[in-house]
Amino acid sequence: MADVSVVGGSGYAGGELVRLLLDHPAVAVKQVTSERHAGKFVRSVHPNLRKRTDLKFVSIDKLVPCDVLFVALPHGVAMGRMATLRGLAKTIVDLSADYRLRDPAAYPKWYGAPHGEPERLAEFVYGIPELHRDEIRGADAISSAGCMATTAILGLYPLYRAGVVDTSVPVFIEAKTGSSGSGGAPGLGSHHPERSGVVRSFKPTGHRHSAEIAQELTVDGVAPPVAFSATAIDAVRGILTTSHVTLRDPLTDKEVWAIYRAAYKDEPFMRIVKEAGGIHRYPEPKILSGSNWCDVGFERDPDSKRLVVMAALDNLMKGAAGQAVQAFNIRCGLDETTGLTFPGLHPI
Ligand SMILES: NC(=O)c1ccc[n+]([C@@H]2O[C@H](COP(=O)([O-])OP(=O)(O)OC[C@H]3O[C@@H](n4cnc5c(N)ncnc54)[C@H](OP(=O)(O)O)[C@@H]3O)[C@@H](O)[C@H]2O)c1
Repeated sequence: MADVSVVGGSGYAGGELVRLLLDHPAVAVKQVTSERHAGKFVRSVHPNLRKRTDLKFVSIDKLVPCDVLFVALPHGVAMGRMATLRGLAKTIVDLSADYRLRDPAAYPKWYGAPHGEPERLAEFVYGIPELHRDEIRGADAISSAGCMATTAILGLYPLYRAGVVDTSVPVFIEAKTGSSGSGGAPGLGSHHPERSGVVRSFKPTGHRHSAEIAQELTVDGVAPPVAFSATAIDAVRGILTTSHVTLRDPLTDKEVWAIYRAAYKDEPFMRIVKEAGGIHRYPEPKILSGSNWCDVGFERDPDSKRLVVMAALDNLMKGAAGQAVQAFNIRCGLDETTGLTFPGLHPI
C-alpha cells in the first residue's frame, strides 16, 4: 500500500487524480492540497466525491512525507515548489509542463522564460507509458505529458518509429479540445456566453505542445517539422487530433494496419478504431469520457501520399490523471490497468 498525496488537488486534473486514487486498491490518499480552499472538505470542491472521502484540503506548507506525490500545479508554480516537494516523497509524478522538455534552451521560446532549474530536467522521464515504459519503471521523477501532445503523439509515433513518414514535409496536426483542458480558473474565454457553442481557433500557430510533439517524434536525433493548430470546441472533456502526414512511399491499408498493430496490440489502453460501417467509424472523444482509452484510426488519401490519422482521448484521463496513474502503476510494479478499467459510457 502506497501513501500518496495530491498537490493542486482542487483543480480539474488534481480532482481527477483524487477520484482515481481513492478507488485504487494499492493506494491510501493521505493529503490533498489547495491554498484557496485549505480547511474545507475536498468534496466541497469536487461534489462527485461526496460520501467517498472526509479529507480536507491542506496548504502545501502542511504536507508531510509520503511515498508518492502527484503534483497538479500550473507550470511555473510547480517549478518553484519542486525542490521542497522532491524532499517529501521518493517518487514524484508531475503533471505540469515544467519538466517535459529535455532541452533547457527550448523553455524561453515556448514558455517565455529560461528554465528555473535546468539541472533538474534530467531527473525526469517523459511520462507517456507507450513510449517510455522501461524508463518509467525505474524513475523517481515522472513528467506527465500535455493533453493535446499525448493525443497527437500516440496517433503518430508508430509511423515515425517505422520510418515511413517523409520528414522533409511538416506533419499538420489540428487539435480540437474541450474547455476543461484549460483548467478550473475562470476567464473570459470560458465564460458561458462566450464559450457555449463555439468552434474557435485559439492557437493556429506557436502552441507550446508543438515542442513536446517534435521531441517525442524525433527518431535518430532528427526532429520532424510539426505544424500544430488548436481549436476550442463546445465540449467539457475530450480531444480529437486530426493529423496529416506525407508518407515516403504509398502504403496499403494492410501495411498501415500492420504498423499500428505492431505498436499497440499489447497496449492495454490503445485501440485501433477503423470500422467499415456504422456511425462510430473513427476515434471520437465523447465516448471516451472518464476512461483511460486512447483511440487511433487512419484513412489513406487514394490520390496522394497523404495519410490522415485521427486520435482521441479524455484530456483529464489519458491526457492527465489517467496517464499519471498508469505511470504510477508501472513505477510500483503493479498491473498497469489497476484503478483505470472504467470503459466509458454509451450513450453519453
Ligand atoms: N486540465 C487538463 O486537461 C490538463 C491536462 C494535462 C496536464 N495538465 C496540467 O496539470 C496542471 C493542473 O492543471 P488543471 O487544469 O488542473 O488546473 P486548475 O484547474 O487551474 O488547478 C490548478 C491547481 O493548482 C493550484 N494552484 C494554482 N496556483 C497556485 C499557487 N500559486 N500555489 C499553490 N497552488 C496553486 C490550485 O489550487 P488553489 O485551490 O489554491 O487555487 C489548483 O489546485 C497544469 O500544469 C496543467 O498544465 C492539465
